[in-house]
Formats: sequence, structure tokens, C-alpha cells
Amino acid sequence: MAEETTFRPGLEGVIAAETEISWLDVDHEQIVLRGYDLLELAQKCPYLSVAHLLIAGRLPDKEELTALEQEIAQETPLPQPVVDILAKLPRTAHPMDLLRTGLSALGPFDPDLEDHSSEATWRQSIRVLARVPQIIATGWRLQQEEPIVENDPKLGYSANFLYSITGKRPTQTEAAAFDELLAVYSEHELPNSTFAAIVVASTLTDLYSALVAGVASLKGPLHGGANEAVMHMLIEAKTPDGLERLILDKLAAKERIMGFGHRVYMHKMDPRAQLMKTALHQLVAGTPHEGLFDLCVRGEEVMHREKGLYPNLDYYAAPVYYVLGVPIPLYTPIFFAARTAGLLAHIREQYAHNRLFRPRVRYIGPQGLHL
Ligand code: SDX
Repeated sequence: MAEETTFRPGLEGVIAAETEISWLDVDHEQIVLRGYDLLELAQKCPYLSVAHLLIAGRLPDKEELTALEQEIAQETPLPQPVVDILAKLPRTAHPMDLLRTGLSALGPFDPDLEDHSSEATWRQSIRVLARVPQIIATGWRLQQEEPIVENDPKLGYSANFLYSITGKRPTQTEAAAFDELLAVYSEHELPNSTFAAIVVASTLTDLYSALVAGVASLKGPLHGGANEAVMHMLIEAKTPDGLERLILDKLAAKERIMGFGHRVYMHKMDPRAQLMKTALHQLVAGTPHEGLFDLCVRGEEVMHREKGLYPNLDYYAAPVYYVLGVPIPLYTPIFFAARTAGLLAHIREQYAHNRLFRPRVRYIGPQGLHL
């Protein structure tokens, strides 16, 4: 019998992996990504540089970044059968279901599928970074019965991702805000979706199967699905007083307020939320969306007063997506697209230093029964 160890519901506070990729240094309110501060990276580096740091283990020089962009551009087109599969799914299917299905269908088209070597998983990572945004944008445009938008070679990776969704070339400001949003979402230690991916990867199954486990997890409203719910709440509230009333009614009904609280940050502000709050303030200044910032601030004040809780990234990311013209059902799929960089890094690390995950249980059921 394994020696009795403490049972922690939800593995709360349990160290479940050793990693060189990232760490939430809560005491110093810093998110460490391979030694750098995520917030500094998000403000000073393009998303693809952060992705290279995560997956390859170091920041790319200018030539390496250009090479990465070119390789991604070459791998961007989706295999036509994958597009056909997306087109066959119900128009009412949630974009996270299209993403899970499309990502799963991509696997068999990857010639390196069963090769877990560093070189092969690097090539697979390029294909995933190229094609996940395409699955999201193509799936959405098919559902809306709008023409699929071809990438514009004059636009960068993030700008093309936003363009492929909205059909409108983003301004410099919009492209910069979207790129910062992708970088801020790129990696966050061991959330449920990353844990799901490495647990699955630890059986030495293929990289796409591990990623699909991550999508399945992230769809849940307690995790990635919160950003969509935040925007619906803000729209329903309309005004700061309306939001205060809505939150108080939800709390009275013992409901969770999406966008608040965090397993790790507990009673501290998610550092990423602070960065997105600043980004939102800058984005809406002087625009018809100006009231959105004051609306969000009121919600933050009410939750702090009533529950001592702080916003997590989703609370301020949701209105940034909204101002950028991203359709609400795509908030969580874009969260996943950004997080593929972190997931790919963790899956590669798991392959390189593998130990099959197989925890034990504390059995509390009946014993000694006989037929
Ligand atoms: C993400 O892990 C990650 O890093 C995730 C993420 C990432 O980048 O990958 O950061 C992204 O998933 C952010 C979280 C998005 N989810 C939400 O915003 C959903 C709403 N949040 C909660 O459901 C909750 O805060 C969790 C799930 C995020 C964390 O929950 P815990 O750690 O399990 O906390 P808990 O359920 O034990 O709650 C502790 C107390 C409870 O009060 P009591 O019942 O003890 O009186 O705090 C209360 C809870 O009721 N509480 C909330 C609340 N969150 C916690 N009350 C109202 N609204 C909330 N949002």
C-alpha cells in the first residue's frame, strides 16, 4: 500500500511538476517565464518572440524571428479535408467545439505525428502555431457564412490572426493591443488545461492528443470559458450602477462572478489583469467605448468590497477583445490559441523528462461485500 500522503481536493497547493518554463512568484507579484517577467515580455516583445522563448527556450534574434514568421506562413493553409470537416459541423456549434474537432483532425495530416524528438516536435509546434488561428477564424467565418479571409503577407502574425476573424485590417494600435493580449495569455505555469496536457503527454501519446485535452479543459466556465461570460455580464449591466446591482443579485443567489478570483492569486490582483486594465483604458480613451472602463472599475470595487476578491486576467481581457471587434464566442478559442505556445513548451518538456502520471486514491467506499 503506498504510504499515506495528504489528500488535497483539486490538488490545491500541490507541486505536481518540475519545470524550467514558468512560475507564479505570487509573493513578488511576478509571472516568471524562463527567467523573464511575463509583463515586461508582453509589453516589449511580439507574441512570436515570447512563443519562441517558451518553446525553444530562448528569445529569438532578428533572423530567427524572421525565419519563424516565414515557416509559420508556409505552414498556415489548413489541409482542405480539415476545412471540410469544420464546414460539416452544426452552424450552432460552439467555436471551442470546432477548435477541439479541427485540432484533432489536424493530427493525422502532420508527418511528424508519432515522432516525439525535439526536432520533430519543433516542426509540429510551427504547424500548430500556424494552423490553430486558422481553425478558429475559418470555423467562425464558415458558421457566419462569410468568405474565408486569406492572410495578408504585409501583416504580421497577430495582425493577420485578428484580420482573419474580423475581415478588417487592424490599425497599428489595434494590432499592438491584440499582440499584447496573446502574449499575456501565452503561459501561466500549471493551470488545469496545461496539467491536462502534460498528464496526457506523459503516456507518450502524440502532441495533438495532448493539445486536444487542453482544449477540452479550457472550455469549462471555471477556467477559460470565463472571459466570454464576463462580456455578457458587462453588456447586460450597461451602467456601473447596473453592474453593481447585477453582481449583488448574483452573490445573493450564491453565484460565482466570472472574471474574479483565482486558485493561486487568492486575495491578490492577477498581475496580468492590471496590464489589461491599463490597455483597456488606453484603447477606449476618446472612443464610444469610453464608458466600458468605468463600468469595469465599478465591478472591481464591488467585488473587492463584498468578497475581498480581485479580477483575474479574463475580467479585463474580455472588454479589450470586445473593443477590438472580436466576436464574444471566440474569446476562449483565442485564449487557447495564445496558450498553445505554453502548452507546446510543457508537452516537449514532458517528453524530454517523462514520468507517467498515475496518482493514488484514498478509498472511502464500502469493502468486504460478497455476491
Ligand atoms: C483562468 O489556473 C490558472 O492560472 C487559470 C488562468 C490561466 O491563465 O490559465 O489564470 C485562467 O482560468 C482564470 C480564472 C477564470 N475563472 C473565473 O473567473 C471563474 C470564476 N472564478 C471562480 O470560479 C474561482 O475563483 C476559481 C475557479 C478561479 C478559483 O476557485 P477556487 O480556488 O477553487 O476557490 P474556491 O471555489 O475555493 O472559493 C473560495 C471562496 C468561496 O467562498 P466560500 O464558499 O468559502 O464562502 O471564494 C469564493 C467561493 O465562493 N469565490 C467566489 C468567486 N471565486 C471564489 N465568489 C464569487 N465569485 C467568484 N468568482
